[in-house]
Amino acid sequence: MILQGENILKQYQHNGGLINALDSVSFSVKKGDFVTVTGPSGSGKSTLLLSLFGLIRLTSGNIIFDGKRIDNINDRKLTEIRKKSVGYILQSFALIPYLTTIQNVMIPLALEKVPKKEQYKRASEILDYVGLADRTDHLPRELSVGQQQRVAIARSIVHRPQIIMADEPTGNLDPALSLEILEFLRKINQENKITIIMVTHSPVAAGYGTMKLHLNEGKIVNS
Ligand SMILES: Nc1ncnc2c1ncn2[C@@H]1O[C@H](COP(=O)(O)OP(=O)(O)OP(=O)(O)O)[C@@H](O)[C@H]1O
Ligand SMILES: [Mg+2]
Repeated sequence: MILQGENILKQYQHNGGLINALDSVSFSVKKGDFVTVTGPSGSGKSTLLLSLFGLIRLTSGNIIFDGKRIDNINDRKLTEIRKKSVGYILQSFALIPYLTTIQNVMIPLALEKVPKKEQYKRASEILDYVGLADRTDHLPRELSVGQQQRVAIARSIVHRPQIIMADEPTGNLDPALSLEILEFLRKINQENKITIIMVTHSPVAAGYGTMKLHLNEGKIVNS
């Protein structure tokens, strides 16, 4: 098992009341699984994605990554694990507007203090892989939406993470572009054994899952 959740509870305080955003959530993910997380709006999908590697702290419950508990370790250690092992693809892409394609992709390597020359080499390889070798010097606003999404994906995999967390990676894309992105995710999942956890509203995207988690009001239900 690469990632396990045991009896996860996440409560938010709101106007003096408590909201159970996640309630009694347990699951096991094997290395190389392509996990899809589905469920109605407000069911806790983003909360789950963000809480797995500590971007949101749990109220209670355990998270075990690669055999070690990570829910009870400090922020500095969690940041190290995220930098080394996790790639995030968020719906808004979050590309830095004044950095070029290749500079955006080099960010995770810069955070790991990889030498500049090596950053450039690895970012170039990945951009080749996502079909953007001829767009390395463009700014995000000079790219199409699908190309921007591919830059975001390149950035999420350039440091060779073990696991990719994606929140609606195909939201706002047309069907053809969505398929392109999904096929690409499947490719890196199968060829590189990268585990993927993907939140989606799209039945087509959910069809890519080899393991499916369906949430309703913060609880896992059978889909
Ligand atoms: N910071 C917060 N404070 C209070 N309540 C919150 C907070 N963040 C989320 N919630 C509540 O927790 C629940 C789960 O939210 P979450 O964002 O995980 O849903 P979601 O399944 O990702 O929905 P969507 O499909 O709309 O993105 C919702 O009822 C939401 O209102
Ligand atoms: Mg969400």
